[in-house]
Amino acid sequence: MSATYKLTEYLKYYLRAKTVYSAHSPFVFDFINSVLDTSKSYYAFQAIDQIREKNEQDNRKISITDLGAGSHSNNMKFKQIKTIAKSAISSKWQGKVLFNLMQHYKPERVLELGTSLGVSALYLAMGNSRSQILTIEGDPNIAAIARENFKKAGVNNIDLQVGNFDTILPELLRSYTPDLCFLDGNHTESATKQYFDLLAAQETESSILVVDDIYWSKGMQSAWEYAKKQSKYNLSIDLYYFGILIQDKRLIEKRDITLIDKKWKPYSKGVFG
Ligand SMILES: C[S@@+](CC[C@H](N)C(=O)[O-])C[C@H]1O[C@@H](n2cnc3c(N)ncnc32)[C@H](O)[C@@H]1O
Repeated sequence: MSATYKLTEYLKYYLRAKTVYSAHSPFVFDFINSVLDTSKSYYAFQAIDQIREKNEQDNRKISITDLGAGSHSNNMKFKQIKTIAKSAISSKWQGKVLFNLMQHYKPERVLELGTSLGVSALYLAMGNSRSQILTIEGDPNIAAIARENFKKAGVNNIDLQVGNFDTILPELLRSYTPDLCFLDGNHTESATKQYFDLLAAQETESSILVVDDIYWSKGMQSAWEYAKKQSKYNLSIDLYYFGILIQDKRLIEKRDITLIDKKWKPYSKGVFG
């Protein structure tokens, strides 16, 4: 997708985004303070940063097959691990938000679609060591590097499965109900909508769905708009880099909100709030 499209969408996001200064609902206020405040430092962040840095210097080449957006069946390529580490994994800020989500909501069962090198899975796993993370990756060679990273971090609450979401997910969700799901794999509109439908059909009391890259393309944006309309979730939060859908009994009416850290909009305090 063009840089102009992304910039325009970012500007629109920025203009409508609210900060803690303008959050009137106690529920949203609580979310901002516990999940969006990424100023706290944890040992886990240093450990994950070290693994990320090692991967960013790793010259090993592996053959990979992209099963995600825009892929074709014969698009096998060779890539250096450092190229994947620099381009295809969650930023430090995203990782911290995932970590905070885990600390705040303490979901028991967490499903991640799209492991890559395992960096986001580490934030999820280290955010709450009592949670059990199931992460799925289509490419066996990438998955092998993720396994190395899990071992280095010494985590034992991640289960990694290798396979295509399209075949694994429908079967898996018959007997497994995640409390939190992080979608960070196939960025095509149709596949993303299909994953939303499968997750929304599950009967749950409370659940969270985090969707990466909601402005990655017009298709992803349309998939995000589609997901927000699902009756299951009563709070949708647009953070630009990802969208979060929350099903929470305490919220009586459906809310759709765009948020940004107050440091990016300091003037909103009492002026434009
Ligand atoms: C953006 S990366 C995930 C990044 C990772 N969550 C992180 O932030 O550290 C997406 C991964 O999803 C995998 N993937 C894409 N489509 C897939 C599919 N249909 N089935 C299984 N894996 C898929 C790709 O191989 C790739 O490694």
